[in-house]
Amino acid sequence: MSLAVAFSALFLLFFPSPAAAQSPKPTNFSAFSISQSPWRPSQNLVLLSPNSLFAAGFRPLPNNSNLFIFSVWYFNISTDNVVWSANRLHPVNGSAALVITATGQLRLNDGSGRNLWPFNNVTANSNSTQLILRDDGDLIYGTWESFQFPTNTILPNQTFNGTTIISNNGKYSFVNSVNLTFGTERYWWTDNPFKNFENTGQINRDNQNPIYPTDFNSTRLRKLVVDDDGNLKILSFDPNSPRWDMVWQAHVELCQIFHTCGPNSICMSSGSYNSTYCVCAPGFSPDPRGGARQGCNRKLNVSNKLKFLQLDFVNFRGGANQIFIQTPNISVCQANCLKNSSCVGYTFSFEGNDQCVLQLDMLSNGLWSPGMKTAAFVKVDNSETDQSNFTGMKYKLQTTCPVHISIRPPPDNKDKTTRNIWIIVSIFIAELISGAVFFCAFLKRFIKYRDMARTLGLESLPAGGPKRFSYEELKIATNDFSNPVGKGGFGEVFKGELPDKRVIAVKCLKNVSGGDGDFWAEVTIIARMHHLNLLRLWGFCAEKGQRMLVYEYIPNGSLDKFLFVKSSSSDSIEIDGENPLLDWGIRYRIAIGVARAIAYLHEECLEWVLHRDIKPENILLDNDFCPKLSDFGLSKLKENDGTAVSISRIRGTPGYVAPELVKLGSNSMTTKADVYSFGMVLLEIISGTRNFDTKEGSTVESAFWYFPSWAFEKAFVEEKIEEVLDSRIRNQYDSGAHFAIINRMVQTAMWCLQSQPEMRPSMGKVVKMLEGKLEIPNPEKPSIYFLSEGQEGPKHPIAMVVDSVDSMDSDFPPAEYSSTSQSFG
Ligand SMILES: *[C@@H]1O[C@H](CO)[C@@H](O)[C@H](O)[C@H]1NC(C)=O
Ligand SMILES: *[C@@H]1O[C@H](CO)[C@@H](O)[C@H](O)[C@H]1NC(C)=O
Ligand SMILES: *[C@@H]1O[C@H](CO)[C@@H](O)[C@H](O)[C@H]1NC(C)=O
Ligand SMILES: *[C@@H]1O[C@H](CO)[C@@H](O)[C@H](O)[C@H]1NC(C)=O
Ligand SMILES: *[C@@H]1O[C@H](CO)[C@@H](O)[C@H](O)[C@H]1NC(C)=O
Ligand SMILES: *[C@@H]1O[C@H](CO)[C@@H](O)[C@H](O)[C@H]1NC(C)=O
Ligand SMILES: *[C@@H]1O[C@H](CO)[C@@H](O)[C@H](O)[C@H]1NC(C)=O
Ligand SMILES: *[C@@H]1O[C@H](CO)[C@@H](O)[C@H](O)[C@H]1NC(C)=O
Ligand SMILES: *[C@@H]1O[C@H](CO)[C@@H](O)[C@H](O)[C@H]1NC(C)=O
Ligand SMILES: *[C@@H]1O[C@H](CO)[C@@H](O)[C@H](O)[C@H]1NC(C)=O
Ligand SMILES: *[C@@H]1O[C@H](CO)[C@@H](O)[C@H](O)[C@H]1NC(C)=O
Ligand SMILES: *[C@@H]1O[C@H](CO)[C@@H](O)[C@H](O)[C@H]1NC(C)=O
Repeated sequence: MSLAVAFSALFLLFFPSPAAAQSPKPTNFSAFSISQSPWRPSQNLVLLSPNSLFAAGFRPLPNNSNLFIFSVWYFNISTDNVVWSANRLHPVNGSAALVITATGQLRLNDGSGRNLWPFNNVTANSNSTQLILRDDGDLIYGTWESFQFPTNTILPNQTFNGTTIISNNGKYSFVNSVNLTFGTERYWWTDNPFKNFENTGQINRDNQNPIYPTDFNSTRLRKLVVDDDGNLKILSFDPNSPRWDMVWQAHVELCQIFHTCGPNSICMSSGSYNSTYCVCAPGFSPDPRGGARQGCNRKLNVSNKLKFLQLDFVNFRGGANQIFIQTPNISVCQANCLKNSSCVGYTFSFEGNDQCVLQLDMLSNGLWSPGMKTAAFVKVDNSETDQSNFTGMKYKLQTTCPVHISIRPPPDNKDKTTRNIWIIVSIFIAELISGAVFFCAFLKRFIKYRDMARTLGLESLPAGGPKRFSYEELKIATNDFSNPVGKGGFGEVFKGELPDKRVIAVKCLKNVSGGDGDFWAEVTIIARMHHLNLLRLWGFCAEKGQRMLVYEYIPNGSLDKFLFVKSSSSDSIEIDGENPLLDWGIRYRIAIGVARAIAYLHEECLEWVLHRDIKPENILLDNDFCPKLSDFGLSKLKENDGTAVSISRIRGTPGYVAPELVKLGSNSMTTKADVYSFGMVLLEIISGTRNFDTKEGSTVESAFWYFPSWAFEKAFVEEKIEEVLDSRIRNQYDSGAHFAIINRMVQTAMWCLQSQPEMRPSMGKVVKMLEGKLEIPNPEKPSIYFLSEGQEGPKHPIAMVVDSVDSMDSDFPPAEYSSTSQSFG
């Protein structure tokens, strides 16, 4: 009791009561009561929260100091600080006032006495009730609180309670804390409503993962807003800049937001995805008043003679003016559009559901996105001369890459090959007749002839083996080597075009030692490798001391340009930073494609081949983002019996080299070193971060910081897998859309990155793990510290079990894994 008295005495000492603070001069309010009413804009007073974080009062418009909006704002912050306002659509002039009437009603009277307070009848006991501003920014009068009537902002500690927030420009709404809409058309939603916004930055939902901002649990000030661009985002204040940083957003691609571009135009993302531009669909011209962003108009009326222009990776969405139909193929879809006179085009989805959507009257909410598995077909008059600028989709997109069926050009040296075949065949027949008598001798010779055939490159080079180009031919094709497109450890790469219009990449190898024979052997090996996910070799040149390889040209460039914000490899020529962000579906396809290519090199080829330099720079992306592994020609050749034969002179790239190689030197190179490099690339595909750069928002504790260990800690110990994921597309994990494949990719990466080579799965198993055909047990933490112990003691018992089972080629992980690990544990 006496303690309580002492406390209240102390309290009074340090926080004098309003009565004690009262003075004849007006002061800034700590609360606004009937005795201070009316409160006019000209008084220039503010109501402060006890912690001085928030203020409420009349604020002049930025462009007109005679008009005011009664607002709540971050007192401390000078940019974009308004979090709530009473009359954002109806600014008042200097004769307005905030009043508490004798009956206890709180009113915002404009100059003519009209009440603009958002909740028309806010009443309380006039004598005792005050308007106060709480520390969390909640403005309270009796039972009324501004937190229940948000404008475009939700603050930490605010419950959503099914409210709707509307952007300041009035165009976009987050309705009932569920649907993000333009008018009645929704373009983003959450399965379960947002519930509350915690001070950690986390937003909770029932029965669904919370949403985490990238600066989760930091002490920064945050707010959730529906921005005027239509995106729902969490902004976090960086006091050092000072500015608001975006730490979460509903749509990564702004073009997914409806009405970013007007009717008949198509939204395109420029570079970093935070800005967009609009282009007209072919056959349409920009609106004379506002340009393509406002919309586009048809150039020629469509007569009876019409045609369809194909727009790859373009989709038109939303609106009442669409008809969804299920059709077996495109032709039926097109026939439906032809029958309907108001049909202006249709879209067809290749995602496996063959969905056909007829567009009536206009093409609305168009966007181009490389992740889009949809093409649009626009009806235009037959005399229309516009061409479609949207190309690149050649075939149906699937999770696996499509199989090219193409007729290769006939080989130049056909006569010679045929002759060689005939020579061998006739010798063989002759031998057969005599050799049949002595079966053993026959067998021995058979092997000899098989090898002879191999050496001549006949076995796996049916038609169209590598063509031998002359130096002169390549000089003309590459316009005197004038168009460099890349530079790697092996030499420069130039773009060129063959007389038959095929576009090529010519790799000029440097410092090639050894004679023609070695080079020929190497080219033969490369040319024998045929896999969808391996870069195709078309030919070579060995002349005048020059050694060149002629590959198919892959226009999109290498994976690193798409994964990392800025390329940190100084020796690669920047194409330009304007690359679209890859979504999880495409990343998954890339991971599987590359894994299949390496598995093919390791296990399916006639010769076992190690790549030795797997890194994002060596993964090229085709038009439809189908990956092509390159540079495998300069790898070591591994015979089936396991002894490695060195053919070329390269070493791996730091950051991707398996730890055992750093320690033991490259002589011990095994397939498991490639598995490690692949694991590192996989982790980079997941995180969008170079393994030797730190992830944004993470701190490096020591010089021994190791990306795989860090990622393991986050994903499996702290169980915050989302911190590992590329923050730019993290929300698709939060929303559960790609939950399974992302988890599988993370687990597989961890197994590939095991520090002991024996612990890593074979590449064939990695493919199965990624495909989901194998149950994946929890991996152990990868570390770089095993090296010191690895040399001394015996092999890790678990490792031996995995290794032996591995070589028996049963499924990974072995069934014995868990029980064995326990008994050894
Ligand atoms: C109220 O606070 C504002 C903002 O700090 C200040 O400019 C103004 O002078 C204060 N008014 C009074 C009467 O203290
Ligand atoms: C207000 O800003 C000052 C300096 O920018 C800072 O020291 C202070 O902690 C801030 N106050 C609050 C309540 O954030
Ligand atoms: C002031 O800006 C608002 C939008 O913020 C605009 O609607 C209004 O026309 C502007 N007024 C003047 C006088 O520029
Ligand atoms: C303020 O606005 C009201 C209407 O809202 C108008 O009647 C009044 O004349 C205005 N006063 C001044 C000083 O502009
Ligand atoms: C406002 O509330 C008072 C008291 O609750 C009531 O008498 C009055 O009718 C209400 N006015 C309106 C416009 O709802
Ligand atoms: C407020 O107080 C005054 C006297 O101080 C009294 O006359 C009046 O009835 C009170 N009003 C209410 C609503 O309690
Ligand atoms: C957060 O909200 C709760 C309940 O609405 C309230 O009691 C508490 O004071 C608020 N926190 C702050 C810092 O205002
Ligand atoms: C939520 O909304 C309901 C009805 O609109 C209201 O009765 C309730 O007090 C609100 N809850 C909170 C925590 O604001
Ligand atoms: C969200 O939008 C969908 C489709 O328009 C609708 O069925 C649903 O009722 C909406 N949910 C809420 C909570 O408004
Ligand atoms: C947030 O950080 C504080 C200290 O910085 C820590 O004690 C707390 O456990 C963290 N909370 C979560 C949910 O990570
Ligand atoms: C887009 O982001 C870049 C950097 O990420 C920034 O420099 C630029 O100002 C941003 N543009 C817009 C329109 O926000
Ligand atoms: C297509 O591209 C060409 C050249 O880039 C440009 O001149 C033309 O306007 C574009 N057409 C459309 C319909 O965007």
